[in-house]
Amino acid sequence: MTGTTYIQQIELMQRTLRAETGLSANELQQKYLGVNGAFTLLAKQITEIDPGDRKVAGQPLNNLKNALATAVAAANNPSVKAWVDLSLPGRRPAVGHVHPISQAMAEITKIFTSIGFTRARYPEIDWDWYVFESLNMPPDHPARDEWETFFVAHAPDEKMGQMVLTTHTSNGQVREMERLGKPPIRMINIARCYRRQQDVTHTQMFHQFEGLVVDKGITIQHLKGTLDYFAEQFYGPGTKSRIRPFHFQFTEPSFEVDFSCHLCGGTGCKFCKSGWHEVGGCGMVHPNVLRAGGIDPDVYTGFAFGWGIERTYTLKEGLAIDDIRLLYSGDLQFLEQF
Ligand code: DAH
Repeated sequence: MTGTTYIQQIELMQRTLRAETGLSANELQQKYLGVNGAFTLLAKQITEIDPGDRKVAGQPLNNLKNALATAVAAANNPSVKAWVDLSLPGRRPAVGHVHPISQAMAEITKIFTSIGFTRARYPEIDWDWYVFESLNMPPDHPARDEWETFFVAHAPDEKMGQMVLTTHTSNGQVREMERLGKPPIRMINIARCYRRQQDVTHTQMFHQFEGLVVDKGITIQHLKGTLDYFAEQFYGPGTKSRIRPFHFQFTEPSFEVDFSCHLCGGTGCKFCKSGWHEVGGCGMVHPNVLRAGGIDPDVYTGFAFGWGIERTYTLKEGLAIDDIRLLYSGDLQFLEQF
């Protein structure tokens, strides 16, 4: 049989069905859906169509099935009840859950607020001044190259410079100093960040969290203690932090931060290789940054740290996600796993 003949038969049955007015739901069922029912037989015949034509017949066949369901409902007969089993349990609507990165943000907030930090929120489109210049990176400083920046097209402000999409949460440092006016400061700033980069380990939009503590007598020991506390709380008891000398314009001295691998306990495994995972940066707030925020560096000292939430979270779960872009793909099959 050709596809066209088959479709013609479907259409014919659809017309006949529309004309069926006097039948009860039970009678309709028997006539069309019973073992020798007209629809049943027609549906079976689909195997007789040339394989290439079968696909086009599927949709009209489905339409016919729907028309049949409508006709049955319209039969308006007490026997319609036969089609509705009221004792069946209901279908639960699918329940969603919080996105894994939002879960991580909530957890990070809880850990830091439990030791006296306050969560701050600052603009995610901000002035060059807060993102770079006040952080000891004058215009044209080569260190800026590291942050692959999206600039907003507009006439620059004389003092603030151009507007950019925040490349890191460090823009919150001088803003928090200005907000509070004077120490003590214990800020945790969690926000979206943007960089001109996109590949399996980077998304153009991502998240960071930034810690800033400024007070009299703050030392590297306070920084290290805070990092160790976070490591144990977020990754589990026994996880340690390690700091290694590095360079950032806005801290002096500066360090990179590693956490011991909580899967192997730091001995080295397939996941971590060396026993440690590098996560981000930290250091003692540079005197120029304190000055930019109106704080006297001869009286106060501070520490700061910051890094990406996506990486922090996937390390925790031991997730070897080979394409981090999946997190923002909106693909429920992927997201429902977390
Ligand atoms: N803002 C840096 C980045 O995006 C990370 C960072 C390094 C933040 C050192 C800090 C710090 O607060 O002290 O790469």
